[in-house]
Formats: sequence, C-alpha cells, structure tokens
Amino acid sequence: MKQIVFNTPGSAEVLSIIDVPIPEPKVGEVRVKVKAAPVNPSDVVFIQGVYGIPPQFPDSPVGFEGAGEIDVIGTCIGPDLKIAQGQRVAFATLGTWSEYVVVPATSLLPIPDNLSFEEGAQFFVNPFTAVAMLDEVNLQKGDWLLLTAAFSSLNKMVIQLAKKAGIRVIGTVRRAEQVQPLIDLGAEAVVNTKENLLTDRVKSLTEGKGVQACFESVGGDIGTQAIASLGKDATMLIYGLMSGEEAKISYGPTIFRTPTIKGFWLSRWMEESSVVDKAKVAKQVYTIMQQGDVTLDVEKIFPLAQAAEAVTYSTQSGRRGKVVIQCG
Ligand SMILES: NC(=O)c1ccc[n+]([C@@H]2O[C@H](COP(=O)([O-])OP(=O)(O)OC[C@H]3O[C@@H](n4cnc5c(N)ncnc54)[C@H](OP(=O)(O)O)[C@@H]3O)[C@@H](O)[C@H]2O)c1
Repeated sequence: MKQIVFNTPGSAEVLSIIDVPIPEPKVGEVRVKVKAAPVNPSDVVFIQGVYGIPPQFPDSPVGFEGAGEIDVIGTCIGPDLKIAQGQRVAFATLGTWSEYVVVPATSLLPIPDNLSFEEGAQFFVNPFTAVAMLDEVNLQKGDWLLLTAAFSSLNKMVIQLAKKAGIRVIGTVRRAEQVQPLIDLGAEAVVNTKENLLTDRVKSLTEGKGVQACFESVGGDIGTQAIASLGKDATMLIYGLMSGEEAKISYGPTIFRTPTIKGFWLSRWMEESSVVDKAKVAKQVYTIMQQGDVTLDVEKIFPLAQAAEAVTYSTQSGRRGKVVIQCG
C-alpha cells in the first residue's frame, strides 16, 4: 500500500510516498481502508519536528486522524461493539496519510450518514478539543468567551456550540472578510486585530469586566492582549501557537483579577480522561454531527500522492475550510 512518510524534520518537501506492506489487525483491532484525512496544524508542526510527540525515523508516518471503511475485523471483538465490514468510521492514530490503517476497535466512531468522508475525517481532533475545552471552562449562559484566531475550523465549531449554550463569543480575526461570516455563525462580536485594539474592544463589550474564559492559539501580541482581557477568576486555555511568538503576562490584571492560565492538549486529555468521560464527549460529538449542529468546511481535496502540495496549501492564509487528503 502507499503511505506518506518523512525522514528528516522540515516543511512539505521532506514528505515522500513509499510502498509498505498492508498492516494486519491483531487481537481487538480492525483494519480500515482510509478514504480521507485532513491536514491539521498539528500535522504541520509534527513534520517540522516541534510537536509534543517526536517523529520516529526512519520513515515516520504522518496524519493523526481520518475516515474510511472497515476492511478487516480482527479477533476477540465482542458483538456489543456493533461493527461490521464496510462500515463508515472515523479514527485517530498516527499514520492516517496511508491507504490502510490498523486501529483498536474500541476507538472507532461511526460517521453519521449525513456526513461525507471529508467531513468525517475531521471528527476527532477539533470536535473533541472543542467539546472538551468548553466542558473544562464550564461557562454559564450570558458569560463571555474570547476566541483568538476565531476563523479557524476549531473555533467555528466552538462558536456554533457556544451560541447554542447562550455563551457570548468575542472572536479575533486579522482579515476583514472573516468578520461577517463569524457573526452569521453566532459570534456576538468579531474584532479585526489589524484595525482595532483587542483590549479596548473587550473592555467596552464587557463593560470593563473582561471575559470569563479565553481559548488562545495565537501567542505574540494577540496572546498578550488576550491575557490582559481576562476578567475576575477567568480561565484561559492555551492550546496553539500559530504566530510562533511568546505572549507577555500583564502583572496588574493577573494580580487583581486572579485568572487561571493553563495549557490544553488533546493527547493528554485522551490519555488521562476516564473511559466514561471520553465516551461522554464521543457521544456529544456524534450527536452534534448527526444533528448537523456544526458545519465542517472543506476548502480543497488533494490525492495522496500530492500530500506535500496539500501541506503547502494548508499553510496559506485566508482559507475557508480544511485541506483534506483523499487516501483511497
Ligand atoms: N492543543 C490541542 O489539543 C489542539 C487540538 C486541536 C487544534 N489545536 C490548535 O488549534 C489551532 C486551530 O486549529 P485548526 O485546525 O482549527 O486550524 P485552521 O482551520 O487551519 O485555522 C487556522 C486559523 O488560524 C489563523 N492564523 C494562523 N496564523 C495566525 C497568526 N499568526 N495570527 C492570527 N491568526 C492566525 C488563520 O487565519 P488566516 O486566515 O488569517 O490565516 C486561520 O483562521 C491550531 O493552532 C491547532 O494546532 C490544538
């Protein structure tokens, strides 16, 4: 089978396509014929060698999530799992930019009939992060949530979920054309940080109180302003660093408003959450997707052999949705 691999950290040009044997499922595992896998920012930083999990050379596989059809069911899988050959499933494992993957049968999520493989392939990383982060900050109706880089796939999901829960979202963007679509999606206010100072806008929107929570993924000056926008006992979850620059902490507001600033990483959450909590979030994600409560936008689809082009395209500014690799 064909698989995308790399042998040295770098950007798109380090990727190559090789032939490897089709993997065989062991006890409790299934083999899935992969149909689609997204290019996420985590894939890009993994290829650069700066992600939380280091690549294992030679021939490190790539891709953390995907969607496909069950091809072979391994042994010792109980009937209560209700899986069948040909079933459409989403999964998370390293190496999804391949024609086949082998995954534990218990880790599969069925894809609702209303979703394509390209949408189902985005079922794990962003939806689980969105639901788990919203659970963690536990906001009440009317609370303010600040989202930096609000036009990201993840935040478009958060906006739609927050709107349903009556949470008021302030989002930041750096392109004027991204303001109105986020208002249409349910954001209360969208700040174009190229034109406005975030701290001023948050101050006036929240009548000087600041926000109750912030999901921060940019860093640099935007991160610095987001920290200064936190209200009394607010929680900031730092989960990305898209500018590549560190933010500064304003000591005054931190002393007097006593916010909590901490990291969020889905891999840790997956490792450390109880089976019950994970099942709860998985059920929430499945229901949200089945009911069409959030949209999973796809910008462009590339064949597996053009994974390098897909990575380059994914790093371009101004995309409207995910870049997806069609694996088979
Ligand atoms: N910690 C975790 O467990 C976890 C899980 C999931 C996702 N994430 C992180 O969440 C973030 C979003 O992921 P995604 O898949 O939703 O991304 P995405 O759909 O690729 O969107 C990226 C967004 O970030 C904006 N952006 C990029 N660089 C920026 C910068 N320097 N300043 C301001 N905005 C910038 C882009 O805006 P433009 O259109 O203006 O370029 C775009 O709207 C990523 O950092 C990802 O690593 C973390």
